[in-house]
Amino acid sequence: MAGKGFLFYLLFAFFASLFPSVLSRTFSHAPKTTLLNVSASIQKTLDVLSFDPETIQTLQQQEQSTQSSSSFSLQLYSRDSLRKSPHKDYKALTLARLERDSARVRSLNIKLNLAINGIKKSDLKPIQSIEGFEVKSGDLETPISSGISHGSGEYFSRLAIGTPSKSFYMVLDTGSDVNWLQCAPCTDCYQQDDPIFVPSSSSSYAPLSCDSQQCKSLDESECRSGSCRYQVSYGDGSYTTGDFATETLTFANSAPIHNIALGCGHDNEGLFVGAAGLMGLGGGSLSFPSQFKSSSFSYCLVNRDSSSSSTLQFGSAQPPDAVTTPLLRSRRINTFYYVGITGLSVGGELLSIPSSYFEMDASGNGGVIIDSGTSVTRLKTEVYNALRDAFVKGTKNLKPTHGIAIFDTCYDLSSKTSVAVPTVAFHFPGGKSLPLPAKNYLVPVDSSGTVCFAFAPTSSALSIIGNIQQQGTRVNFDLANLVVGFSSNKC
Ligand SMILES: *[C@@H]1O[C@H](CO)[C@@H](O)[C@H](O)[C@H]1NC(C)=O
Repeated sequence: MAGKGFLFYLLFAFFASLFPSVLSRTFSHAPKTTLLNVSASIQKTLDVLSFDPETIQTLQQQEQSTQSSSSFSLQLYSRDSLRKSPHKDYKALTLARLERDSARVRSLNIKLNLAINGIKKSDLKPIQSIEGFEVKSGDLETPISSGISHGSGEYFSRLAIGTPSKSFYMVLDTGSDVNWLQCAPCTDCYQQDDPIFVPSSSSSYAPLSCDSQQCKSLDESECRSGSCRYQVSYGDGSYTTGDFATETLTFANSAPIHNIALGCGHDNEGLFVGAAGLMGLGGGSLSFPSQFKSSSFSYCLVNRDSSSSSTLQFGSAQPPDAVTTPLLRSRRINTFYYVGITGLSVGGELLSIPSSYFEMDASGNGGVIIDSGTSVTRLKTEVYNALRDAFVKGTKNLKPTHGIAIFDTCYDLSSKTSVAVPTVAFHFPGGKSLPLPAKNYLVPVDSSGTVCFAFAPTSSALSIIGNIQQQGTRVNFDLANLVVGFSSNKC
């Protein structure tokens, strides 16, 4: 009997060891290597630091001529294209970006934990009265750190609000739903580039009553003499609060859209880098796509270091060449866009990671969301380690150098103009794969040729596909058919 058991064990061990490698050779169609243009990356790090603010004028003029037919679109800009960088060098800029990014990830996880544990934010103490760290219901920690913005301000659009309409820079955020902008009179407004919105000078401004559906849909609301007050707290100390109202929005070449619910924020705390407010692109009922009843929306995030712009489109069709994956919804939180991921490959070889590492469980933990405001893709530690190890194995010819902040895998490419590196690809149900351009996973961290592998491990259950990995790719959220499509080079 014992001999037979041992034989079975041997057979099992043999197949178990054989199978992952058989799978990897059979299923991955991604190219083995991809070229990284080191000179071009270095040049962009210099460009972003020497950006000329006059470019903004040009961008605003471009916006006037945006073409759209049945669907409508807005120009989309990266954060650092809007203003002269306050950082003395690219390394300082990188460190600031990574700090913001960690705040962003914390903020998304706090939001998710509140939803999973069924805690309404209105049950919590008002966030502005708290200093330092505060432990709230459950053991949810809310770090309050003045000086670090809630990290959603990575990409912006310009939106025309009110009657007569005025244009404002708005942060685009797929990780939240409530739209808001800073409003006069200000109890507390941070500095913004455009003049503050004055509700009394817009004929289409209308406060919402407490029994309106929109008011009832808010997570945090309050009734004050019959009018609806809103609050949005981002989990890191930044928040906005004020009157919940409806307004008219105007898009180039399309009829104005009336009665869009948005927060008129009289008290706003946080550094939203000059934006007047935020455009919620999440899946909840108060987000822009939901209020427009858009069947779809899409964006193409331009390179963070480039001053070029792209578009945010509503009602746009899925490009025929898009690589698609199911858009999954959580029963716990309707804001986040979860996507179906089956695996990752490096150099054309699928990593042997059980697909359960990418799946959401019954309690709403786990899964992979796609987010516009997170920069660096976060993967569960086991997944990240497998990915990193495979990448390191495939780059033995490159000179390693020390890590920086959340990046533990960096290379000194100062002597190179371009290098071939193993292709990293996401794999989706149905055998589809999305090979990433090399610049979407090897990012410069200074201007002298140090690049780092731009993925990071997370100890939380939630994985996030960040905007570095989405750069230059049109991401189409087909809300009607629950499909996310990725089209390379469609900015
Ligand atoms: C790298 O990019 C530069 C532009 O910055 C271009 O002139 C050069 O041809 C590119 N090199 C390769 C190998 O593609």
